Amino acid sequence: MRLSENISELIGHTPLVRLQTGIPIGGPRAYVKLEYLNPSGSVKDRMVLHVVQKAFDEGQLKPGDTIIDNTSGNTGVSMGMVAAVYGLKAIIVTPEKTSKEKVDLIRSYGVEVVITPTEALHNDPEGCYLVARRIAKENGYFDLDQYDSQDNVESHYLTTGPEIWEDTDGQITHFVCGIGTGGTFSGAARYLKEMNPAIKMIAVDPVGSVFTEFIQTERIVEALNYKVEGIGSDVVTKALHPHLVDQVITVSDEASFNRARLVARTDGISGGGSSGTIAVAMEQIAVDLDSSALIVGIFADAGIRYLSKCYNDQWMLKYGFLKPSKEVQR
Ligand SMILES: Cc1ncc(COP(=O)(O)O)c(C=O)c1O
Repeated sequence: MRLSENISELIGHTPLVRLQTGIPIGGPRAYVKLEYLNPSGSVKDRMVLHVVQKAFDEGQLKPGDTIIDNTSGNTGVSMGMVAAVYGLKAIIVTPEKTSKEKVDLIRSYGVEVVITPTEALHNDPEGCYLVARRIAKENGYFDLDQYDSQDNVESHYLTTGPEIWEDTDGQITHFVCGIGTGGTFSGAARYLKEMNPAIKMIAVDPVGSVFTEFIQTERIVEALNYKVEGIGSDVVTKALHPHLVDQVITVSDEASFNRARLVARTDGISGGGSSGTIAVAMEQIAVDLDSSALIVGIFADAGIRYLSKCYNDQWMLKYGFLKPSKEVQR
């Protein structure tokens, strides 16, 4: 029998599948890890499960307690799922720009959603980061604080990294991963570097996020607006361990969204906008590599979460990411 006693047992062990789009024929082998096949639909299931399990083990959480965090959406969905399994209540704080599909999905798990202005940045008391901290403190809720949590990093050190190592029989040569909190990158990269220090760790960041400049020069610049969700930040996080980064690749919203659409049509893999970001970065490194290289990229969530955004022609046209054409006007 192969029976699971609750939905959280199905987290992890996601597959690696070949990516063709943008990868030169006869060039390196490129695979993407389909994190959207986690049971709530994103990479965040791993982090939320680990943090909650650990807090239960350490006596910091018990059934009936409330967990809270600020999130661009996926963490909220994972919190809803894990909270249901563990008998917890969940509250999330998210900026207005988070897609309607994600907010509706989070609410469907019974999670309370607090919306904050998108323009309010990290240090703004009205912004999602400080609003979440304030609600947690005032009410004694358990604060996941994913941006600074080392348990977030540890979840990927214990699961994502080992899975990639085992599924590639240790042949991985390049790891390509977006940075939101930095947890996925730092945890998996640390494990993979321990297994083979020659593996190149490539961090991927949207144009406008502060990570690129910080990794390259340790300077903290002012963030600009960008539309891709789940990656990039207006503040440097403690879950990012910059010493693990060998190279950082910065990708525009336009390139990310169009690539996500192209990968869906060419490879039949429908990732979120940030999966497009990853696919662009994978192409950039693939052009300089030969067939001995094996690139692994992380597809953090699925296109179905962005049907009103990058998979919607009108939305793409509105922001100038798509040029008007006959096909679009039909
Ligand atoms: C939609 C989305 N969520 C989360 C992540 C990873 O987040 P984190 O750095 O917080 O582990 C990514 C990374 O690619 C992402 O694209």
